Amino acid sequence: MTWEEFEAQAKICRACGLCETRRNVVIGRGSKNLNRILFVGEGPGENEDRQGVPFVGQAGRLLDLALNALEFLPEDYYIANIVKCRPPQNRIPADDECEACLPLLRQQFLLLRPAIVVSLGAVAAKNLIGKDAKISNVRGQWFNKGGTVFTATYHPAAVLRDEDKKTDFYYDLKQVKTAFDEYRKRK
Ligand code: URA
Repeated sequence: MTWEEFEAQAKICRACGLCETRRNVVIGRGSKNLNRILFVGEGPGENEDRQGVPFVGQAGRLLDLALNALEFLPEDYYIANIVKCRPPQNRIPADDECEACLPLLRQQFLLLRPAIVVSLGAVAAKNLIGKDAKISNVRGQWFNKGGTVFTATYHPAAVLRDEDKKTDFYYDLKQVKTAFDEYRKRK
């Protein structure tokens, strides 16, 4: 499947009830280059739903700020979410909504073949690392699954709510940058 085919399919998805209230399907943003980094958040908020682009609100600004400060290059990462449609009132997406949406993320995974997948927050970690994953336990840890490494850090919205998480958030992202730089040197 090509990106064009995938995006056309995603835009008309009706696999779960979130399609009833969405304004836009929020597919992803960033580099479509192969073998880079895939960041995965939870689901679109109000701004993302309006604009059809992930992480464009306050949490997104913090994420962009951190990635720029740590010198991640725009051509080296793509940002998506576990669910592509906004849960009403920004509630946490239900398990069945995540399950219904995961085939879309799987398709993005096939198109991107990421070297590193970074879960941002608990919803992504539970869906991508393990259903019992707790962010405080898995953050900064590395899990190798079929040649792709998975790791996790706090969701930027959690960092906005709790300044104390900022140091760990930057530290985890710095580790991602270092791991990616090493991967590129080996390639
Ligand atoms: N929070 C998320 O998890 N994803 C977004 O796209 C925006 C906020």
